[in-house]
Amino acid sequence: MTTKPALYRDLLLQAQGLFEGIHDPIANAANLSALLWYGLPELNWAGFYIQRGDELLLGPFQGKPACVRIPMGKGICGTAAATRTTVIVADVHQFAGHIACDSASNAEIVVPLIAAGQLIGVLDLDSPNLARFDDEDRHGLEALANAFVSGSDPF
Ligand code: SME
Repeated sequence: MTTKPALYRDLLLQAQGLFEGIHDPIANAANLSALLWYGLPELNWAGFYIQRGDELLLGPFQGKPACVRIPMGKGICGTAAATRTTVIVADVHQFAGHIACDSASNAEIVVPLIAAGQLIGVLDLDSPNLARFDDEDRHGLEALANAFVSGSDPF
């Protein structure tokens, strides 16, 4: 059975291949969303929110239609954006201020995207499985987020 670190190493190689020669952030975000959606088990949403002024705006994603605007500091995405820290939530129903987009979501991880010291957005994954995300996911997704940021122009 493939270990989680091995899976993320493989996904990183695939992402680097997809980004090669492509600097458009929307194209790369769309491809990374699809790569994660098909490459990681037990997800019900995978995608991007883009920083626009003092809010986050829905970007490329896979999964059900989602809330379009999230104020900075609100919800799990807005918390990760405001603190510039990856947030892992084992049970979203226990997170005060969680923004419910899909009732199937039970766990969530949000990785901030920082380019040249500036927040440009977040990468957000939801799962129907409680406690789906751990430090191995954080490590793997932060590496993928870094590859995205360093391979793409700003949004
Ligand atoms: N649950 C998120 C909102 C975005 S959806 O999960 C796609 C939050 O609390 O920020």
